[in-house]
Amino acid sequence: MKPIKVGLLGLGVVGGGTWKVLARNAEEIARRAGRRIEVTRVAVRDVAKARMRVGNEVEVAADPHAIVRDPSIDIVVELIGGDTLARELVLEAIANGKHVVTANKALLAKHGNEIFAAASAQGVMVAFEAAVAGGIPIIKAIREGLTANRIEWVAGIINGTTNFILSEMRSRGLPFAQVLAEAQRLGYAEADPTFDIEGVDAAHKLTLLASLAFGVPVQFERAHVEGISNLAAEDIAHAARLGYRIKLLGITRRRADGIELRVHPALVPAERLLANVEGAMNAVLVRGDAVGPTLYYGQGAGEEPTASAVVADLVDVTRLHTADPGNRVPHLAFQPDAMSDTPILSIEDTETSYYLRMRVEDRPGVLADIARILSDASISIGSMIQEPSSDGSGADIIFLTHLARERNVNLAIASIEASPFVRSTVTRLRLENLT
Ligand code: NDP
Ligand code: HSE
Repeated sequence: MKPIKVGLLGLGVVGGGTWKVLARNAEEIARRAGRRIEVTRVAVRDVAKARMRVGNEVEVAADPHAIVRDPSIDIVVELIGGDTLARELVLEAIANGKHVVTANKALLAKHGNEIFAAASAQGVMVAFEAAVAGGIPIIKAIREGLTANRIEWVAGIINGTTNFILSEMRSRGLPFAQVLAEAQRLGYAEADPTFDIEGVDAAHKLTLLASLAFGVPVQFERAHVEGISNLAAEDIAHAARLGYRIKLLGITRRRADGIELRVHPALVPAERLLANVEGAMNAVLVRGDAVGPTLYYGQGAGEEPTASAVVADLVDVTRLHTADPGNRVPHLAFQPDAMSDTPILSIEDTETSYYLRMRVEDRPGVLADIARILSDASISIGSMIQEPSSDGSGADIIFLTHLARERNVNLAIASIEASPFVRSTVTRLRLENLT
């Protein structure tokens, strides 16, 4: 059978990895796909640099539009990134009847509804395994492996850069800026690394996971997003003393009244597998009503791990492109006409446990006053530690609460911060037992 023709947009970290893996494993991949998968055109900005890499047998040019319009191309692989040019190219490729493979979570989290609708109308596939958790086949697992289940929640470490930073800071005591530079050198970070640091990249991925798990439209704008830039070293140390590790988690949970969709640093019990995921590794925990908890672990970023997912999509599309579009796996796991309008809940409706740290005057009655404020807000204390503050000005108190509603926690924090005996703002971190 004649080879399937691929146009590769971008030959950077992921594009370069895809080129390498396709070349190295060409025979094995063809045996799986049923035909050879051949990159025939490449688009980049720096054509000379790309030619050194791919040689003269492949056409390299600076105009990606020419590739998405080329009638000889069957599959367009978008590995440029961003959501402006990439959106134009993907929509144009779809309009020209081409299947698309992309690793671009920013694009799909913001424009996924439009892109998937356009693809369904044209009867083409948009495959995006590499967009979530790098090399881990988590989309395949949720979309196909767990279809029997009513999925209850998904929680995971889905940004390699921040997990690498937190791990290196904790285990080697390295400064934030140095570790971030190393993550960039290793190709883990986004073009704009604030997307990693501020939790935006994880929220892009979580948005896609929520749609796949619960059959709701893609709603990135409804996600609660917090990154690791405000995390204090003393909270990492206190958490360790209390038996927890701090991880940047993405959590989406189905409740009777809606869906939680949130990314933030969280205390995770140190004995949980998720707490021990280090470096650029990712791990996603999915709980289904039939299967119970399942855990997926692997490299979440970088050249070849991400290429592994891109090439898997290429094989999938190659196998399925002659199938009747109605019989293919739906883009977001649920049939497009069976999507649910279950609302995404505000962060104020989140229910979880909390770590609250504050500096107070060290005198009789203060602890009782704080306990009363928490109790008035229906917040039950799980445990507490108090120690002299490092500057000798008073005492540091840390509470771990039982399950509480974020709205009540906000009220309690406002009330504590307004009290005359409090010498600091209250640091609030969420605590996830993941059971
Ligand atoms: P890079 O910056 O390494 O590569 C981007 C590529 O796109 C480069 O080859 C660049 O060309 C090309 N490019 C940029 N603008 C244009 C343009 N206007 N016309 C033609 N080509 C252009 O990015 P990554 O490979 O890291 O990321 C690509 C995508 O994969 C992003 O969506 C990212 O979020 C996603 N992703 C990245 C992962 C990673 O670990 N890095 C993991 C999972 C997903 P040139 O080489 O000439 O500059
Ligand atoms: N910047 C992303 C990360 C790349 O660090 O996880 C993988 O999506």
